[in-house]
Amino acid sequence: MSSRLTTRWSPPIRRATDMAFQVACPAEDLPVGSRKIVDLGKITVGLFNVDGTLYAVRNVCPHHGAPLCLGDIVGTMMPSDVGSYEYGLHNQLIQCPRHNWEFDLRTGRSVHDDAVRCRVYPVKVEDGNVLVDA
Ligand code: FES
Repeated sequence: MSSRLTTRWSPPIRRATDMAFQVACPAEDLPVGSRKIVDLGKITVGLFNVDGTLYAVRNVCPHHGAPLCLGDIVGTMMPSDVGSYEYGLHNQLIQCPRHNWEFDLRTGRSVHDDAVRCRVYPVKVEDGNVLVDA
C-alpha cells in the first residue's frame, strides 16, 4: 500500500524513468539562426537554433495561449539606474507575438514576473537528429 496521498486532481508525477528523448527532426533542418515548429504527440514544440545553441519551447504562451514560438528572438532592457539604459540577454528571450511578454529560452521564466513560465524542454543532437525530452 502506498503511503503517498493523491487526489483525483493530482498532476501526473514525472519520474526519471519516464523521461525519454524523442526524435523531433533531422539536425540539418535546424541550421544556425533558424526555427522549426514540430508536433510531438499531444504537444507542439518550437525548436530554435540560436547561435549554435538549441532550445525547445512549448508553442503555447502561459498568458493567453498564443502560439509563442511564432514570436521574435530578442534581448531586453535590463534593470538599471535612473537615466541609464542597459541592453542585455541578447538572443536569449522569446517574445510572444500577441502581447509581447518575454520568456527566457533557457528557463522559460518571464522576464517581468518570475512566477510565470513557459514550458521549455531538454534538447540535444544525436545521430544526426534533434531529440527533445517532452
Ligand atoms: S498571449 Fe502571450 S503575452 Fe499574452
